[in-house]
Amino acid sequence: MFRNIDHIGIAVRDIDKALNIYKGIFGLELEKIELVEDQKVKIAFLPIGSSKLELLEPVDPESPVFNYIEKNGEGIQHIAFTVNDIEKVLKKLKQNRIKLIDETPSLGAGGVKIAFIHPKSTHGVLIELVEQ
Ligand code: CO
Repeated sequence: MFRNIDHIGIAVRDIDKALNIYKGIFGLELEKIELVEDQKVKIAFLPIGSSKLELLEPVDPESPVFNYIEKNGEGIQHIAFTVNDIEKVLKKLKQNRIKLIDETPSLGAGGVKIAFIHPKSTHGVLIELVEQ
């Protein structure tokens, strides 16, 4: 069902400050910075191997990432896995009584279909599915 770790999402208060470390010191490459309206976040992608780090800065107090930082502070917020057919996967998860945050996909960075699984069903890990 899950094919690859697409990215690891890291919640940060300030992307520019985080880039000073992740790009400036760790030497990761910045692929792009994108505003994702659906999630009310600014996202920086830093490819590493076949995966990526995704730095997420909330741009609105309504953003789920804003709430995450308020509650937990900065840090790893989610892990994203690639799947072939997101609708099919969501259906299968629902049949298995896995709690979903998104019953239907929304559009993530780059216009790809994404959906989140509730951490209550995954031993505390917020999982994002990315169709690719
Ligand atoms: Co993500």
